[in-house]
Amino acid sequence: MTDVRLAAVVVLAAGEGTRMKSARTPKVLHELLGRTLLGHVVAASRELDPEHLVVVVGHGREQATAHLGEIDPQARAVVQHEQNGTGHAVRVALDTMPDVTGTLVVLPGDAPLLTTHTLQMLVAEHVRAGAATTVLTARLDDATGYGRVVRDASGHVEAIVEHKDADEATREVREINSSVYAFDVDQLRTALAQLTTDNAQGEEYLTDVVGLHRAAGLVVAAHVAPVASEVMGINDRVQLAEARGLLRDRVVEQHQRAGVTIDDPAGTWIDVQVAIEPDAVIRTGCQLSGSTQVAAGAVVGPDTTLVDTLVGPDATVLRAHCIGAVIGPLASVGPFTYLRPGTRLGRGAKAGGFVEVKASTLGDGAKVPHLSYIGDAAIGDRANIGAATVTVNYDGRAKHPTIIGNDVRIGSDTMLVAPVEVGEGAYTAAGSVITQDVPPGALGVGRARQRNIEGWVARWRSTGQEKS
Ligand code: UD1
Ligand code: CA
Repeated sequence: MTDVRLAAVVVLAAGEGTRMKSARTPKVLHELLGRTLLGHVVAASRELDPEHLVVVVGHGREQATAHLGEIDPQARAVVQHEQNGTGHAVRVALDTMPDVTGTLVVLPGDAPLLTTHTLQMLVAEHVRAGAATTVLTARLDDATGYGRVVRDASGHVEAIVEHKDADEATREVREINSSVYAFDVDQLRTALAQLTTDNAQGEEYLTDVVGLHRAAGLVVAAHVAPVASEVMGINDRVQLAEARGLLRDRVVEQHQRAGVTIDDPAGTWIDVQVAIEPDAVIRTGCQLSGSTQVAAGAVVGPDTTLVDTLVGPDATVLRAHCIGAVIGPLASVGPFTYLRPGTRLGRGAKAGGFVEVKASTLGDGAKVPHLSYIGDAAIGDRANIGAATVTVNYDGRAKHPTIIGNDVRIGSDTMLVAPVEVGEGAYTAAGSVITQDVPPGALGVGRARQRNIEGWVARWRSTGQEKS
């Protein structure tokens, strides 16, 4: 990159995005592996370390501005009240920065696959060429809809012609304008003042700056994106899914190259911020999202969803759905397990088959092996919770805690009616409804005694009466 700091990045995101057919979400706020479209573009822009990062908003501007405040508080939203074209949008942005000079990068808010590296290459080429405008282009098999890059006999970029304004011959051109540019700010201001709306869409086209700079005898350069799909703009939900697939492949490959085993790249969806250490294994059919982290030696999947979940070293998480959980080293989860926010499993702890846990801690080596609900509970080290145990934590108005000491044995099918405490080393009898605290070392029994009625079956069969 250059030693001179980039003056500004302007992201264009004021358009309506009608082809998304969304009544509730502006186009650039649709989601792609953990970030919105705008979030991806802003993240790539931020890495360029510009002095100003400005996003032009219009349609859905309240939502877009609020979102921007969350993802990048240093970025600034500028409102373009009427969408009079991409040239107009940049002019509105520049009018808020009258003193800025130097190099400016413009990019569209709907191109989430752009990488910082490609933007750096664009700026490097711009500086090297001493250009007034440098366009990021790409060669596509099907260029329909895009602005075409028209080059002169010596290969220099002469103009960009919008699809709607292009003649037959120009529509044959396969090199397209990505809508990503580097500009010299002073030269850009001069050209923007000269834009007209004399075109098929009656808009001020940013693309016309290329022709204006050429006519003024200034250098116009181009950088061809090495991977054409990087410049892909998202206009509808078909393209959104296509971009999601491309980004999935990119993210999976990065993890594989960093030492993570991923059995089924096409069936593994990892958000861009998820961290996975080398020697972790991700089996088929997994979704890892949000702030999830997976430590070395852990095995996740098959068929597991992790949202904002930490998986410790050498833990196994099999066919589970986990949200906001912390899974300790060597812990084991699954299959068919639901871990909800506030779940913390200690070292070597177990949440087994058909177990749901919410806002609860399992101590080191504690086990809930089968068919249980654990909510608002603190379970001590090495405690064992028998099958089909329920913490009865809700009285219809409020939630109450269950405290289970170290080395406790909860018998199968125990109802622990909270608030309740089972002291260290205590047992409960299977089938008990425990409504009172059980002291340390005691056996809590809370069930009716069994009686057997001799000969009952034969009497019932002969008389048809269930006489006791
Ligand atoms: C634009 C380019 C085209 C290029 C294509 C790449 C122009 C005239 N054309 O066409 O050469 O091949 O992108 O995808 O620039 N926007 C605003 N305010 C406006 C108009 C647009 O902020 O008044 C924003 C949109 O939200 C969008 C971006 O600018 O993020 C591009 O606008 P769009 O209408 O999608 O332009 P295209 O027709 O795709
Ligand atoms: Ca577009």
